[in-house]
Amino acid sequence: MTIARLIAAFLASFLFVSVAHAASVTSPDGKIVVTVDVDGEGVPYYTVDHDGKHVLLKSQLGFDFTDENPMRRGFKVVGETTDSADTRWEQPWGERQWIADNHNELAVTFEQGDADHRRFTMRVRAFDDGIGFRLEFPGRANKPVTRIAQELTEFNLAEDGTAWSIPGGDWNRYEYIYSKTPISALSQVHTPVTMKLADGTYLSFHEAALVDYSGYRLWRVDGLRFRTELAPSSRGAKVVRTGAFHTPWRTVLIADSPRGLFESNIELNLNEPNKLGDVSWVHPQKFIGIWWDMHLNHWTWNSGPNHGATTEHTKEYIDFAAKHGFRGVLVEGWNKGWDGVWFGNGREFSFTEAYPDYDLKAVTDYARKKGVHIIGHDETGGNIANFEAQMDASFAMDQKLGIEAVKTGYVADAGGLISCNADIHDPCKGEVFEWHDGQRSAQHHIAVALDAAKYHVSIDAHEPIKDTGLRRTYPNLVAREGARGAEYDAWGVPKNPPSHVPTLVFTRLLSGPMDYTPGVLSLVGRDNTPIPSTIARQLAYYVVIYSPLQMAADTIENLAKYPKELAFIEQVPVDWSQSLLLDGKIGEYAVIARKDRNSDAWYIGGVTDSTPRAPAVSLDFLDPGRTYTAKIWRDGDGADGLGSQDAKHRIAIETRTVKEGDTLAIPMAAAGGYAVAIVPAKK
Ligand code: NOJ
Ligand code: CA
Repeated sequence: MTIARLIAAFLASFLFVSVAHAASVTSPDGKIVVTVDVDGEGVPYYTVDHDGKHVLLKSQLGFDFTDENPMRRGFKVVGETTDSADTRWEQPWGERQWIADNHNELAVTFEQGDADHRRFTMRVRAFDDGIGFRLEFPGRANKPVTRIAQELTEFNLAEDGTAWSIPGGDWNRYEYIYSKTPISALSQVHTPVTMKLADGTYLSFHEAALVDYSGYRLWRVDGLRFRTELAPSSRGAKVVRTGAFHTPWRTVLIADSPRGLFESNIELNLNEPNKLGDVSWVHPQKFIGIWWDMHLNHWTWNSGPNHGATTEHTKEYIDFAAKHGFRGVLVEGWNKGWDGVWFGNGREFSFTEAYPDYDLKAVTDYARKKGVHIIGHDETGGNIANFEAQMDASFAMDQKLGIEAVKTGYVADAGGLISCNADIHDPCKGEVFEWHDGQRSAQHHIAVALDAAKYHVSIDAHEPIKDTGLRRTYPNLVAREGARGAEYDAWGVPKNPPSHVPTLVFTRLLSGPMDYTPGVLSLVGRDNTPIPSTIARQLAYYVVIYSPLQMAADTIENLAKYPKELAFIEQVPVDWSQSLLLDGKIGEYAVIARKDRNSDAWYIGGVTDSTPRAPAVSLDFLDPGRTYTAKIWRDGDGADGLGSQDAKHRIAIETRTVKEGDTLAIPMAAAGGYAVAIVPAKK
């Protein structure tokens, strides 16, 4: 920043000099320009240009409240500051080790011309691959509590195009198949939502650092004008805050290609740095579990003759894990409370008491001897009040037993989370119901992360609130579900279609890791229903879908039937120093390369929709002058992910010598894929 700009910024921020002209901020490469101003009626707004073209036209900023006048019009600009950053920081674990944070910042303060002179500040950061902005409220002595009825932040798109989205605010949370529609046909959708404008620009709308605020769904008000529709709350006001506060960052990724979206780190950059300190106790790992047999209806979560979580079954899983190098064994249905209707209820769940046929101490002792760790499971049935009352005791118990990760679950209709109060800080006032993406849920997930961290426990939340990059601040938030995962291949109607994973890569997975639970090598769901996939595609998922907790989801009996394929799952890392999109088209195919965090090996995964194809990708990322051995697991002759069991299981496993600059064009069958391990050759 120049001295002159510094002085101007200083004067503007402290003296609130009236700024007559529109303020703007440009991305470091000069391509993205965000302009902020008020219009003739004093309505605060911003615009976004990319490469000299409008992306977002005049888009309003403002708020409605439940107990005070709206903040919509009558504002003037009273302050303007600028800043910039060009740094990098290291992730303790992740899809890439180093993250560059290079942005320019502008903060514009608006003041309303009424008697109260209410103010808010828009702070916007322009990166080369998009923007993030948040709205900041100062504390008010005369009115400490702010009750937001609606946030009026708009995104007014300059042109139509194609969108990939799931519905926002419907009962099944984020577990929907993505629709590909015109942007102008959207109604209310969850974020991230990804779009391709008619001119070829790619956009993805989401938010970063969703802390003590309600998550937003993107609502098309009319034409191409969208607004942040906040998830409702039992209190009426969608957000209630005391003192100074700010909204989460509203993010728009802007890129010329799908690769630009895939490689963006804007949301991580907009989160606060690690608040947990030393997190060497967070262990990225692969795991198996007492799980798929329940989804197939062979075993039950509840007690009875087919109870899955028995001491005996668990020891068998521990033996298998020890033999094949899995660090974790997930055990679902271990605890009291599964008998009766637990969905959207959860009142009976105990998070410390095991069923009598599951000897918690015996299995954890046995696991310890074998170098294996039990992964706990705390399904709440959406009853966050019941879980909050017990979680401290439960995580303390986990630590004593050597349980280093817990899968939580919030199975309830969206809008059906049971909370005993309307704010985590209030005393319990009896049961109320809240949304999975509302403020209360946002509070809950951070409270869980903090309490689990006290006992060095990591969290993998299913039916969670959406991922907004909080793993940077709380690195024990290792994974989450938050989309249709492999469970739908057990019992979903329909099962996940071949386009699902090639869509997730450019939508849900832009927001962070997903516990998809891949590795169903048997390729059949409940009642032997066929899963649309080849066996090679199941291996591809370990590279294509990033998660630091990665499951081999099939039963141990089934995994044992496919030793050559299991060998890839045993070998593939879960922690990476680099991640690259080599090629891809949203919803059609994706080829991803990742470099192992602990060696010089690279791994590639490719998936396609129902169209067979062999995209040519360059190995230009390998070290020059080095020879590598590439072991390839690919769809074999006659393979067909939509065909017979035999056709789905056809695989070719081959080895080639490769070097920097070589091209790979590996054929993928319909609903197929491939996995490659590229290891430096021994000298
Ligand atoms: C839904 C989760 O996604 C799944 O993995 C789990 O097994 C069930 N809930 C039961 O908690
Ligand atoms: Ca689920």
